[in-house]
Amino acid sequence: MNPNQDKLWKRRAEAKHGGGLERIKKQHQKKKLTARERIEILLDEGSFEEMDMFVTHRTTDFGMDKQLIFGDGVVTGYGTINNRLIYIYSQDFTVFGGSLSDTHAEKICKIMDLAVKVGAPVIGLNDSGGARIQEGVRSLGGYADIFYRNVQASGVIPQISAIMGPCAGGAVYSPAMTDFTLMVENTSYMFVTGPNVVKTVTNEVVTSEELGGASTHSTKSGVTHLTSANDVQGLLKLKKLLSYIPQNNQEKTPDLPYELGKEIREELEGLVPKDSHKPYDIKKVISGTCDKDSFFEIHKDFADNIVVGFARLAGKSIGIVANQPMSLAGVLDVDSSKKGARFVRFCDAFNIPLLVFEDVPGFLPGTDQEWRGIIVNGAKLLYAFSEATVPRITVITRKAYGGAYDVMNSKHIGADMNFAWPSAEIAVMGAKGAAEIIFKTEIKKAKDPEVKWKEKEAEYAEKFAHPYRAARRGFIDEIILPKNTRRKLIKAFAMLENKKIERPKRKHGNIPL
Ligand code: HXC
Repeated sequence: MNPNQDKLWKRRAEAKHGGGLERIKKQHQKKKLTARERIEILLDEGSFEEMDMFVTHRTTDFGMDKQLIFGDGVVTGYGTINNRLIYIYSQDFTVFGGSLSDTHAEKICKIMDLAVKVGAPVIGLNDSGGARIQEGVRSLGGYADIFYRNVQASGVIPQISAIMGPCAGGAVYSPAMTDFTLMVENTSYMFVTGPNVVKTVTNEVVTSEELGGASTHSTKSGVTHLTSANDVQGLLKLKKLLSYIPQNNQEKTPDLPYELGKEIREELEGLVPKDSHKPYDIKKVISGTCDKDSFFEIHKDFADNIVVGFARLAGKSIGIVANQPMSLAGVLDVDSSKKGARFVRFCDAFNIPLLVFEDVPGFLPGTDQEWRGIIVNGAKLLYAFSEATVPRITVITRKAYGGAYDVMNSKHIGADMNFAWPSAEIAVMGAKGAAEIIFKTEIKKAKDPEVKWKEKEAEYAEKFAHPYRAARRGFIDEIILPKNTRRKLIKAFAMLENKKIERPKRKHGNIPL
């Protein structure tokens, strides 16, 4: 029996019966919390009900039968967050390094099964040395049991992972298949093979942090959607994230109370510079349009030429996808297409309406992009929007060029409403490039080709660098002043509230993965 068991229970009793905010504040100072402290901070006070507290492992090899520890390295159960039911598991690194035995896995599977039956989110707090080495294949089987359930639950209930310590080897694949992953800076890492194996196989010398720390996965790989400075901040972020999403795929996110006013936002006027080559921050457009301080960004530091996240509009939860002119002029590339596609699919699976702000000069040219498969990756975003059945609205703030016009939630691929600001430019390509191609001979023959080119560029721009041609064809439903955007969107989303689309029966589509 674990000699620390008494202490653990004492701490649990303390956790259940008080402490509150003061205790949380104290814990904030600590970098790493215990498995139970994490649950205590995440869940509503006193709401946690533990299950399988007396479970022990079944291993007899390597003297393990003399080391039976109640709970077997994972705390599981259910409780509430902001009065909404959730299921949770929290791995306890102090017990066999939080390693996963088959009983440890059974406990996790039990709450996952319940979560699917009942229709409530599952949250996994990961802090584990991976497969319980003393158990061999039984432990591997345990992982596979969890992976299988991750997939069956995908798109049915929200699944969220926080990495708060090691997460190595095959263990990484459960978080990878959940909807959102959060990593704590400097105390967590995720990799399939650690620095020692990397050194042996590739001769690279790399630290755990460089290989799979929070900053690596939030900027380079995109494996993690969120990061936090410490455990407490991370847990509070999860709490906030949950407030935007429903309990399951049959429900909608609860609205926050909101009283409609005039909903005019003067601050949106003048945000787009007159010179269409000049950048501006699309996040100002987002915050200027949505409810005050409601924007919750996902994948903030990865592929920042596209911005995705949740927000509220008149109290209702929406998903936002926006090109960011501040980064690579808002162009679509491999990473931003993947990032956007994954977010769109989550929102669609969980009945969260989509709002797109579009200012995109096209897809990023170059060998790097072509060889990394911009074709198949750009297609992911196109596919994700095309299959989405939730209410979908686009606001074109400036450029909508080329294939990217089609991809970014155009009416042609099923968007319900497309608005454009007067500054919108909707064309096959930018005026300069277009003039060069279609007036090639004329420019070549001209006395002064440069002057001719400029003249032709202006001619093309006059024809297309505005939204009126698209509006004449009905591809744009309305040209609106920026200050009226919020008002128009609130009305349009309300109009779309009961949207229903039935698709033909099929097993599943074949998204170009
Ligand atoms: C059993 C484990 C363990 C494991 C750690 N421990 N990992 N016990 N199985 N996988 C135990 C240690 O023996 C030690 O016990 C205690 O946990 C704390 O571990 P330390 O090594 O002292 O901690 P630390 O120095 O912080 O290092 C943490 C660590 C290291 C980096 C995670 O423990 C480690 O490398 N563990 C093994 C990682 C690994 O290779 N796992 C298998 C991956 S393969 P005592 O009694 O001394 O306190 C895998 C396959 C999954 O997971 C397949 C699914 C497809």
